[in-house]
Amino acid sequence: MEAITLLQGKRLLLAVTGSIAAYKSVDLASKLTQAGAQVDVILTAAAQAFITPLTFEAVTGRPAYTALWESAGGGLPTHIAHVGLAEAAALLAVIPATANTLAKLAAGLADDLLTVTALAARCPLLVAPAMDGGMYAHPAVVASVQTLAGRGAYVVAPETGRFASGLSGQGRLPETATLLGHIRLALAQAGPLRGRQIVVTAGGTREAIDPVRFVSNHSSGKQGYALAQAALDAGATVTLISTVGLPVPVGAQFVAVDSAAAMLAAVLEHSARADALIMAAAVADFRPGTVATQKIKKQEDTAGLTLELVRNPDILLQVKAQREQTGWPRRVIGFAAESEQVLAHAQSKLHRKALDLLVANDITAPDAGFAGDTNRVILLAADGGQTPLPLLSKTLVSEAIIDRVAALLAADA
Ligand code: C5P
Repeated sequence: MEAITLLQGKRLLLAVTGSIAAYKSVDLASKLTQAGAQVDVILTAAAQAFITPLTFEAVTGRPAYTALWESAGGGLPTHIAHVGLAEAAALLAVIPATANTLAKLAAGLADDLLTVTALAARCPLLVAPAMDGGMYAHPAVVASVQTLAGRGAYVVAPETGRFASGLSGQGRLPETATLLGHIRLALAQAGPLRGRQIVVTAGGTREAIDPVRFVSNHSSGKQGYALAQAALDAGATVTLISTVGLPVPVGAQFVAVDSAAAMLAAVLEHSARADALIMAAAVADFRPGTVATQKIKKQEDTAGLTLELVRNPDILLQVKAQREQTGWPRRVIGFAAESEQVLAHAQSKLHRKALDLLVANDITAPDAGFAGDTNRVILLAADGGQTPLPLLSKTLVSEAIIDRVAALLAADA
């Protein structure tokens, strides 16, 4: 599990209530701990019918709490457990949240450690309802959830599928990766890009030859997906326009495209009111001049096939024209993958495409570029500033870029 910058040094209060889905919270507590959070767990009495405090203590390395009338051990701001837990937390996440706990939270009841702590807490509240059968659709549960949402709670909608009972419906707790994504979104609400709309492109475009073949490049899309996640972690609303099918970061609006022409249309549409466009996609410079409507067949005597390629539109040049007319998107960030004279080529690209920031990398370097999980880049600013970054994970490269985007947008305000 990769470290998550947003979670470093944060105390999360994970409250587990009495649903069979409680076993999934163990994996979540483990992943949050591995990612760098300090996870304090509260179990209700009903939760302990499914799972023990020791299970959570084993994966978090911290005490798990069950009793209202006992003093807390060390490690909290005060020995009064509910106050200490509440004061210290960046987020109170009730996962899974039963109908009973939702009703108690909505009504403000305070008869166990979780509900008393919830009243003492001033941090954001996240609830992930999970219940069997038709319970989630019951008007009483709907009302509890609405009350909590109306008070600002972050509600993770349960998924539709099979229940432990064998029945099907909406009420399943999402898997760990999804829950983690929602916790990130809840924590990001105070981030430097809150209220900002960021569009990111990812992957190599696919230029059709015939209905089954295409020309493309080695771009994996990993840098673009990492940028989308970093923008979400900073609190932005994110649209990810992509040619590849990696897991979409929770909270991103996903737009699937294939060719440069399709990406151009999507970029112009979605960046028309965006604060920033980040063009991490490897757009093919050429495409086949004609696309065969049927699969091209080989004959016994066919020795070869000649493809005529024509130029693709340059998306960033079209964005430049749109920006000159409308002022949107506010800021534009491009990438330059170069194999020689990296800085000279990157500089000229920065000016020709009217970029605010250009991320240049030398694709001949063994540790940078397409398929890997690391990248070594230089950030070039419109004012001539150059910032070489050390070899970093694509995640950390993305966070550095997003910091720069936030600074550019803050300077506009
Ligand atoms: O000109 P070059 O392809 O090296 O520039 C790279 C930058 O331009 C990247 O940000 C890429 O997404 C963008 N690009 C584009 N349209 C193209 C080719 C590249 O927007 N047709």
